[in-house]
Amino acid sequence: MHLFVTGGAGFIGSAFIRLALAEDPTCRITNFDALTYAGNLDNLKGVDPQRHRFLRGDITDRHAVTAALEVPADVIVNFAAESHVDRSIQCSDTFLRTNILGTQVLLDAARLKGIQRFIQISTDEVLGSLPEDADVLSTEDAAYAPNNPYAASKAAAEHLVRAAQRTFGLDAVITRCGNNFGPCQFPEKLIPLILSNAILDQPIPVYGDGRQVRDWIYVDDHCRAILRALAAGTAGEIYHIGARNERQNLDVVAAILKALGKPESLIRFVTDRPGHDRRYALDPTKIERDLGWRACETWESGLLKTIRWYNDNGNWLARARSGSYREYYDRQYGGTTETSS
Ligand SMILES: NC(=O)c1ccc[n+]([C@@H]2O[C@H](COP(=O)([O-])OP(=O)(O)OC[C@H]3O[C@@H](n4cnc5c(N)ncnc54)[C@H](O)[C@@H]3O)[C@@H](O)[C@H]2O)c1
Repeated sequence: MHLFVTGGAGFIGSAFIRLALAEDPTCRITNFDALTYAGNLDNLKGVDPQRHRFLRGDITDRHAVTAALEVPADVIVNFAAESHVDRSIQCSDTFLRTNILGTQVLLDAARLKGIQRFIQISTDEVLGSLPEDADVLSTEDAAYAPNNPYAASKAAAEHLVRAAQRTFGLDAVITRCGNNFGPCQFPEKLIPLILSNAILDQPIPVYGDGRQVRDWIYVDDHCRAILRALAAGTAGEIYHIGARNERQNLDVVAAILKALGKPESLIRFVTDRPGHDRRYALDPTKIERDLGWRACETWESGLLKTIRWYNDNGNWLARARSGSYREYYDRQYGGTTETSS
């Protein structure tokens, strides 16, 4: 099995590559990644170079994608994306280019090259916000209702995947997941942001009242589900991947501060994100029933592994927090939440 993985130097893509190589000794991977601010080859340290070929390239570059696929691949797994909502609110250009046009380039190349299966990695955000006071979960047939440019670009990508399947008969599967956490996540996202600021005794910015609800999943559980969808999913289907682990943001912050022995006085409430969705929660019944997948990690065990990793990888964190991340952070949260320590 030869997988063509895009965005494999990012958080989830790199976890997927490590897992896919570990689970199947015959698996070989081409990892096609533009190495944006979020891509980091350190995430792939220790991966067997005989079975993992890295190519730096942009999924919007049709020639580069076609050339990379000269070595025949069986499956394309598309993780490559601009993935941070706040950045999409600051400027949506790269989101539209990578998440929409880039997906179409990959779909065209998949047809041209006779790829057997296309897996599109998508997000619960395409469905928008659920009511907070009702016990409802989002099923695969829920209506699209994206509320920010990132979510809208991922919804558009899903439409293109569906169109390629219906119009051209491309074997395509879409997976949607909630909020991932685990090692190697860039520290602009909630959990590594809390962790990295808390480790350095810096204030922790929390949007609005902090009562937004997210459905948290340990990254390896997500990747195991993608492997199941790749191996046994039905073409044309969407699968929701969720760990039935809803938490309010403020409770996530409190759990991490407690685990690190840091005071809640580090919390700083900041102006809420525009269009901030209140609640996401995916119903994973279909993938559990049809593909026999179930999350293995509990919130507590996953969080412990994640905290250990960030504690043990200070150099990775320092590098990720330097340079362009600093500029972005200052623009997003301003001087009010930062200290000089
Ligand atoms: N992080 C989550 O909680 C979450 C939840 C559900 C779905 N997803 C989806 O999973 C995928 C991976 O998310 P992540 O958190 O690992 O993202 P990430 O931002 O950590 O990584 C994205 C990767 O894509 C690469 N990339 C960006 N633009 C590219 C381009 N034009 N060409 C080639 N490579 C490019 C980057 O260099 C980086 O390595 C995304 O599609 C995202 O929408 C993420």
